[in-house]
Amino acid sequence: MWFKKKKEKEKKKEYFTEVWIKEWLEAIESSDDYKRKGKNWNAPILLKLDPVPELLKRKGTIGFFLNLKYGECTELRFAQNSDPDKCDVILTADEKTWLRLIEEKKDPTIMIMKGELKLEKGSLVLLSIQRKAAKALLETAPVYEKQSADIKTMHPQSSAPVSNRHKYFKTTRKGLNFDSFPMQLFQKAKKFGIWNPADIDFSKDREQWKGLTEDEKNILMHLSSLFMAGEEAVTLDLLPLIQTISKEGRIEEEIFLTSFLWEEAKHTEFFARFVSEVMNGRTNLERYHGTFYRELFYNKLPSDLNRLCTDTSPLAQLKAAGTYNIIVEGTLAETGYEAYYKMLAENDLMPGLREGIIKLKQDESRHIAYGLYLISRILKENPDLRISFENHLEDLLNDATNIIHEIFEPYNEVPFGLEKEWFLDYAIRQFQNRMHKLGL
Ligand SMILES: [Fe+2]
Ligand SMILES: [Fe+2]
Repeated sequence: MWFKKKKEKEKKKEYFTEVWIKEWLEAIESSDDYKRKGKNWNAPILLKLDPVPELLKRKGTIGFFLNLKYGECTELRFAQNSDPDKCDVILTADEKTWLRLIEEKKDPTIMIMKGELKLEKGSLVLLSIQRKAAKALLETAPVYEKQSADIKTMHPQSSAPVSNRHKYFKTTRKGLNFDSFPMQLFQKAKKFGIWNPADIDFSKDREQWKGLTEDEKNILMHLSSLFMAGEEAVTLDLLPLIQTISKEGRIEEEIFLTSFLWEEAKHTEFFARFVSEVMNGRTNLERYHGTFYRELFYNKLPSDLNRLCTDTSPLAQLKAAGTYNIIVEGTLAETGYEAYYKMLAENDLMPGLREGIIKLKQDESRHIAYGLYLISRILKENPDLRISFENHLEDLLNDATNIIHEIFEPYNEVPFGLEKEWFLDYAIRQFQNRMHKLGL
């Protein structure tokens, strides 16, 4: 019996062996999905393991070399020391990360953005263009009995107990914690967030608008329509989070959140004024909202926030803050406003619009800072939610990069010298900074 068991164990298939490589090559050859998605990829790639596991060390290899030619893989073998020079793209990770990518069919581009996979050589922007091909390629890798570390995904759904009575008032018992981060943010909000959109002078903007070409007007309307709906969405969707925080008795946080919602309302007012006073009240701007934009702003954002009306569990709060503060504000809006401001400033255009964007960006930085504080607090109390939260952000980062691709799709050349690569690069860096701050 013991002998039989041992034999069975010996038969268990191992990753990163000659057999595994052979099976992988066969899987690529028979994958119609990779043939289709990889039809524009013509470059060798090196998948490197660092540190090199014992098994590969004994074979004198550092990883795997794949020669990719328009949807075909003409060569797949153990990589030699001279291969890095031949490859345009080198992806590096430790054994556990590679196994997780293979077994869980992860998106390699997203893993790079999250800093789990290292792009040792090559351009992230170019790779993100080939993202579907890269994912389809790695999805063909044979999966054996799970060998990567077991990942616990606990999803506590229990809501915090909510009472309809106040047990005490903080101001009359302990006093407000003025040193707390939310109270510090509130002091800043009162100092820097008191600007009035109605005071901004749009007279020069109006004059300049008349002199713009139709293409130039079009890109300004396009980008403005994304900001306008975005600001309206975050104004409409914030309340469930404020109510959740309020019901938990976190008075300092709620005090700050009053300024947060007020500022979002002003941002909505600001863009509405710009449209009515500069763009002559142009309507039908929804035609600029593409499929991916709609998925995030019309569906996922309200759905993740409104879930808090029935589920105030830590995971539901994390997901709401992740969607709202990290992706919508911290990745898309921050990148969009930076590019928008830069574009207008470099062309000396729309001084009123620029004045508002400067103020609005300051407000947004406080909102994002609060989101990071909230997420850190919840993760500290619930470290087991880390993986579920990361997976949530991973899906949304995918949406965010798709929105950027979608924005640029209709243009051969974007007026005012806007570049997709700049957008993508900036967005990814913002996302990575936030992940770093959260220790993810
Ligand atoms: Fe805003
Ligand atoms: Fe905001």
